[in-house]
Amino acid sequence: MERWSGKVAIVTGASSGIGAAITESFVEHGVKVVALARRLNKLQELAATHGKDKIYPIQCDVTKEQDILHAFKWVEEKLGGADILVNNAGLVVPSAVIDSPTEDYRKVVDTNLIAPAICSKQFCQSIKRRNTHGHIFNINSIAGHYAEAIQIPIGMYGASKYGLTGLSAELRHEILLAKLKIRITNINPGAVLTDMVKVVIQASDDVLKPMTLRDKDIASGVVYALGAPEGVEIYQLTIVPKNSIIGILTPP
Ligand SMILES: NC(=O)c1ccc[n+]([C@@H]2O[C@H](COP(=O)([O-])OP(=O)(O)OC[C@H]3O[C@@H](n4cnc5c(N)ncnc54)[C@H](OP(=O)(O)O)[C@@H]3O)[C@@H](O)[C@H]2O)c1
Repeated sequence: MERWSGKVAIVTGASSGIGAAITESFVEHGVKVVALARRLNKLQELAATHGKDKIYPIQCDVTKEQDILHAFKWVEEKLGGADILVNNAGLVVPSAVIDSPTEDYRKVVDTNLIAPAICSKQFCQSIKRRNTHGHIFNINSIAGHYAEAIQIPIGMYGASKYGLTGLSAELRHEILLAKLKIRITNINPGAVLTDMVKVVIQASDDVLKPMTLRDKDIASGVVYALGAPEGVEIYQLTIVPKNSIIGILTPP
C-alpha cells in the first residue's frame, strides 16, 4: 500500500456506510480522499475527524452529470487529478418492479450504473492525459451476480448491479486495448449492516448483526485489492457473511 500513500482517491457516496469506511481506511494509509455525496454536512463531519488536507468534501448528486464534471474538474485543478476511483454511491428501492413507478427504475439505474460509467470515463481520460497508474473499484453486490439468492423485492437494484458487472468487463477490455495502466476491481458484498440494508430488511441491529458484515470488512477488501503487487489485478472480490442465510451463493 505504501506506493499509494500521498495519492488521491475519489470516493462516491462517502457520507455513510461502506463509502465512509473506505474513506477512513484510505486516510489511514496516507491516501487523500475527495469525498462525494449529497449530504455535505455528513462529509464535513467525517473530514473534521481527520484534520486538514486528508478528506476534501464536495457536494455531488451523482445522478446529475454536471455535479460529477464539476467534482472531477475541481480534483484536476486543485489536486492534479485522481489516482483511485471508488464507484460506491448506491440506491435501492425495495418494491416490486411490477408495482413501481418508472421514475423509480430511472433513479436506481442512474445512481448505480450510469454514474459509475460517467465517473469512469472522466477518471480514465485523466489517467491517460497524465500517463500514470490508476485503480477503479466498482462496489457491486452479490445481487449483481447471483440474483436468485435474493428472494425479496429489490426493484431494479439487481438489474442495475448486473449492469455494473457488464460495465466492469467492458471497461477492462477498453483499458487493455487503450494500454492504460489502470486496474479494475468489482467488490461484491453480501449483506452489510448499513442504512441500505435496513431499508431492505426491517429488523433491529441486534437481529441483523449476526447475519451481516460490517462496513469496515468491505473497506479491508478494497485495501487488499489496492495493495496487490503491480502486475496483479483482483478483478472480482466476493465478500459474504459466514454462517448467514443472507449472502448464501446459489449457482448462477
Ligand atoms: N449494505 C449492503 O448490504 C450492501 C451489499 C452489497 C452492496 N452494497 C453497495 O454498497 C454501496 C454503498 O452502500 P451502503 O450499504 O454503504 O449504503 P448507505 O449507507 O445507504 O450509503 C449509500 C451512499 O450512497 C450515497 N448516494 C446515494 N444516492 C446518491 C446520489 N444520487 N448522489 C451521490 N451519492 C449518493 C449516499 O450519500 P447521500 O445520501 O449523502 O447522497 C450514501 O453515502 C452501494 O453501491 C450498495 O449498492 C451494499
